[in-house]
Amino acid sequence: MTQISLLGHELRVNDKSPVTEGARRIIDLDKGLLHRYRDKLSVEGDLTRQLVSFQANRERPRYRWFKYKEAFSVSLVDYLLRRFSITSGVVLDPFAGMGTTLFAVRDHNIECHGIELLPIGIEIIESRSLLEQGLTVQEIDTLEEWIVRRPWKNSHVRVCLAELRITGGAYPSETKEAIERTLGAMQAESERMRKVLMFALLCILEKISYTRKDGQYLRWDYRSGRRQGTRQFDKGVVAGFDEAYGRKLREIIDDTAYTGGNRDLFLPTESRSCIQLMSGSCLEILPKLTAGSYSAIITSPPYCNRYDYTRTYALELALLGVSEQELLSLRQQMLTCTVENKPKALMDYPAWECALRAADQQPVLQAILSYLDTERDQKRLNNACIPRLVRGYFYEMSCIILECARVLTNNGFVIMVNDNVRYAGIPISVDLILSDIAQACGLTTEIILVLPNGKGNSSQQMGEHGRESLRKCVYIWRKNNAY
Ligand SMILES: C[S@@+](CC[C@H](N)C(=O)[O-])C[C@H]1O[C@@H](n2cnc3c(N)ncnc32)[C@H](O)[C@@H]1O
Repeated sequence: MTQISLLGHELRVNDKSPVTEGARRIIDLDKGLLHRYRDKLSVEGDLTRQLVSFQANRERPRYRWFKYKEAFSVSLVDYLLRRFSITSGVVLDPFAGMGTTLFAVRDHNIECHGIELLPIGIEIIESRSLLEQGLTVQEIDTLEEWIVRRPWKNSHVRVCLAELRITGGAYPSETKEAIERTLGAMQAESERMRKVLMFALLCILEKISYTRKDGQYLRWDYRSGRRQGTRQFDKGVVAGFDEAYGRKLREIIDDTAYTGGNRDLFLPTESRSCIQLMSGSCLEILPKLTAGSYSAIITSPPYCNRYDYTRTYALELALLGVSEQELLSLRQQMLTCTVENKPKALMDYPAWECALRAADQQPVLQAILSYLDTERDQKRLNNACIPRLVRGYFYEMSCIILECARVLTNNGFVIMVNDNVRYAGIPISVDLILSDIAQACGLTTEIILVLPNGKGNSSQQMGEHGRESLRKCVYIWRKNNAY
């Protein structure tokens, strides 16, 4: 185990942000916190970024269907289950995404429950669960026919593709027409087949569009006709609908295993424990779960980095029928991580008082918040809502951490993947601040696994503050017996 050096973070400021007393105070407090946690931080040579991130799933059957780039990898979940000897009970992921924890834990024959708010995440998990329940021979033949006969080509029924303000012009006109005819042709199929066909369509939207999910943005090809300034790019050849859709259907069929010789059902090869998905916000669902019912929580919340899932997945949300109004409400319900999020009414729930107090009393967090408030008042932030974003993130996470502690069995683990961030030149040790808040919520930090190569700043901040490595970590907290 390599221990991390105690150098602490550097300040990176520019002419707009002079090194103020407030900034120096943060660095001193941060060093103190780092000193307290120094024995817990361990740089893990094995945990490369590639092993942890979605990269490792790219070629993996079933996980490769939909490129959910914010996902972590199956290999990481396998590694964590082994390393922390999680072999029984029920595991929970309150930010389930595309369901990596759910399916990977289930493959170890452990029951797993997930919570997810974003309709595309929910759709991926439901579709995969349906496919793994088994398809009849007739259903497989139907899919094969779709690949060979391409019924959308001569479908007389055309269903208008719903658009959101931010998705207009996303596809070449012939692709848009092919999508609409596909939606029309699907109407002749059973409900189960429609679900699979729709899923395959969702899986290829990025590929056949003028967009690319890139870092924090949905970037637009210059041919889309959208004015996006520097975010416009040349995507090169945009995949044609017929081939992309046929290939995706083929991949789905190939990845869904046959049971030996029995063509009646596509059945999973191993015996399966159960998966349960709860749709909605974990801030609303967690308080309804029974105390002491989970043996471990393995999760990765959104990072505090302005990444907007509702924009990145706008094409998929539009196809799923999310309206303009629903999109706004979804954005607000998500864990605060964009400058648009407004404060949530956390104080309305009395049981969270202790979590809010833990955040109120965390000295580094409070120093950061007051520094950011001052920077905003001095008009030195590139967006005046950054203090609100950082405040919302930590206060909501505090409530979620308290709930995680409540629903865990004694000695149960919370395992959380997250990144540190930087705002206005100030590094924010999300790992240590959240670990300290977790302590106040009854969770002891066992170890913080640090990925060997940290990450730089977000693209907006690179120009101003240069690149200094920020820790990307996996936190391991354990519920205190006494709590
Ligand atoms: C980093 S991703 C998790 C990816 C997941 N580990 C995987 O491998 O697929 C974070 C997820 O949290 C979800 N999320 C954000 N706010 C939420 C909330 N309030 N309740 C439930 N899920 C939420 C996002 O939609 C996103 O899918």
